[in-house]
Amino acid sequence: MSANAIWYVSPKKGSNVKVLVCKDYDILSRRAAALVASVVADDPKATLGLATGSSPVGMYQNLIKLYEDGILDFSKIKTINLDEYYPLDPSNDQSYHYFMNDNLFDHINIDKNNVHVPDGNAADINKAAEEYEKLINDNNGTDIQVLGIGQNGHIGFNEPADTFVGPTHVVELTESTIKANSRFFDKIEDVPTKAISMGIAGIMKAKKVLLVANGENKADAIAKTLEGPITPHVPASILQLHPDVTFIIDEAAASKLQEYRPE
Ligand code: GLP
Repeated sequence: MSANAIWYVSPKKGSNVKVLVCKDYDILSRRAAALVASVVADDPKATLGLATGSSPVGMYQNLIKLYEDGILDFSKIKTINLDEYYPLDPSNDQSYHYFMNDNLFDHINIDKNNVHVPDGNAADINKAAEEYEKLINDNNGTDIQVLGIGQNGHIGFNEPADTFVGPTHVVELTESTIKANSRFFDKIEDVPTKAISMGIAGIMKAKKVLLVANGENKADAIAKTLEGPITPHVPASILQLHPDVTFIIDEAAASKLQEYRPE
């Protein structure tokens, strides 16, 4: 074990979540990339479930570096992204489609025919959601699902609600999410109020889950997710039930954990 990253375990019965607390964002990004890289190296035809947001940007940079160094080959890799704003054209520089090209796909040897992001511009958005769900199921889920986390505990765009929603669906974004994401737009009015998101079933179907989070503004969500009850009001809390989930977070995001103990 290196001093710049420490594994933590929960004393909570039945929780399988492993937590790696990293000294800073740089270490977090390298460790997260190493986990994804191991999946790509083990199976060159693996399906990666990918996420947008600022949290995984450093991880993507490290994956690009591993490709440039000749260590990783993405030519047969398939990707299924979590979510997309609706309505928003994929060519819009705020779309998640654009984000993925810009932060990863344009810099590696992936075949763009193997890349999947929900269609935020679909004429019939509910039909697009059904087709996306079929894609996930036909593929038998992903080999690893990368997740960030919203300040309100959302994963993908599965917002806090009274029930968990299983399939891919259209979401009404909460005020807190619109506010948090407005930092990427010129003004808050430009943030789409809806999105299309993989549901909880698609996420839980992944063989492995990797959640990355950094910064103090995620500390509450991380503590509730790992130490609170499993509830749709904190959507990420469902991950307590996944058999192979790793959180790679920085010290600030870990700062409100009470129960987790060094391994
Ligand atoms: C968005 C995305 C999520 C992401 C979250 C956190 O709402 N739909 O998938 O995890 O933001 O983003 P960030 O990593 O920028 O804090």
